[in-house]
Amino acid sequence: MARALGPFDLVALGIGAIIGTGIFVITGVAAAQYAGPALVLSFVVSGIAAGLAALTYAELAAMIPVAGSAYTYAYASLGEFIAWIVGWNIILEYLVAAGAVAVGWSAYFGEFLHSLGVVLPAALTHSPAGGGVVNLPAVLIALLVTALVTAGTRESSAVNKIVVAVKIGVILLFIFAGARHVDPANWRPFFPYGQAGIMHGAAIIFFAYIGFDAVATAAEETRSPQRNLPVGIIGSLAVCTVLYILVTLVLTGLVPYTELNVASPVATALVRAGITWAGGVVALGALAGITSVLLVVIYAQSRIFFAMSRDGLLPGVLSRVHPRFRTPYVNTLLVGTGVALLAGFLPIDIIAQLANIGTLTAFSVVAVGVLVLRKTNPDAPRPFRVPFSPYLPLLSLAFSVYLILSLPPLTWLRFVVWMGFGIAVYLLYGYRKSALAPAGRRLGPLPPPVRKVRPQGRR
Ligand code: ALA
Repeated sequence: MARALGPFDLVALGIGAIIGTGIFVITGVAAAQYAGPALVLSFVVSGIAAGLAALTYAELAAMIPVAGSAYTYAYASLGEFIAWIVGWNIILEYLVAAGAVAVGWSAYFGEFLHSLGVVLPAALTHSPAGGGVVNLPAVLIALLVTALVTAGTRESSAVNKIVVAVKIGVILLFIFAGARHVDPANWRPFFPYGQAGIMHGAAIIFFAYIGFDAVATAAEETRSPQRNLPVGIIGSLAVCTVLYILVTLVLTGLVPYTELNVASPVATALVRAGITWAGGVVALGALAGITSVLLVVIYAQSRIFFAMSRDGLLPGVLSRVHPRFRTPYVNTLLVGTGVALLAGFLPIDIIAQLANIGTLTAFSVVAVGVLVLRKTNPDAPRPFRVPFSPYLPLLSLAFSVYLILSLPPLTWLRFVVWMGFGIAVYLLYGYRKSALAPAGRRLGPLPPPVRKVRPQGRR
């Protein structure tokens, strides 16, 4: 692969993967049900958590610049079993998150059709829990994007930059058009759910930050990855945090927070404030932006499955490459089917919260991985170092765990079931079939120095 991407491309790549359903959809539910106008503080808390995680990611991404992301870092630092746990959690981060992203796409699609005077029957736009039969637009967009990824479409850097410009454009439009209609009375009470509400809100809208780690998966296509990966990860996150805070301030100032529990809050708020044209434009921009997130997330999931299959932890068919498209097609089709089923039949809050808990668990392991590698491989080259280690990695760990604890207990329960299932799959399949199995199992850290992060052996 050519090393073509520079720092600006990487920041654009990050923004392309980050801004989507989180800010355009989940912000509304979170303000209405969890935090009220104080949701802006939730975005600050969650942004700090994501920023700290970004620093730990940046250290490992620069040190081990190969595709595979957190799964690979865990493989190198903490051994196969922990890597499996991380990989299993990344399924929540990418595959399950993609389900929520598709549901968000469907909401803005409905809003866009509405602005043209077309209304789809509720039975075909809502999951059973939402009173419908199936969320058909969500299923169809998931399948369409899967077809694109299978055919080898990898959003080119040029297309991505256009989509990112559109996304930032509609967000700025929202902020500037909306700001003039803000009524400060809507910010009172500012803390309707108290301090606990801020933390619950933070744990829910953490979803909006998911995706910056996609920058790390471009490690093998980046010029001077050691310098540029940290710039890309931290830079994209910084831009998004500022935009999110401004959007939330305007959104909760435009309409009372109690009215934000709608499917497409950002567009709806503009329409309610009487700026109907801007509502339509924002809906269209959100559609384009959310599509690009879906593409990146489905792509990323298929590549993680590919890496896990190559290591023998998942069946070899998942790393089978299509002779013409040169893509892992079986794997991508499987991912797409999973995303479509989730998106069609489950409500967005359940899916998004599962995605959050999986991502936060993976981030916790990455923070521990930084600390472990500093001990086991103190002299390995680290082009980027998390400052103030061990304090910042520990703080990152603490933030992630605190956000996990702020999620609803029902989400923990679902997560425990998912993890139990994952450990069973490892014991019954991965443990025996792993590429490491014949050479003797290694469950501890690699001996120094970390050079080769993945064993060459194949089954
Ligand atoms: N952060 C991504 C989104 O908001 C997953 O859609």
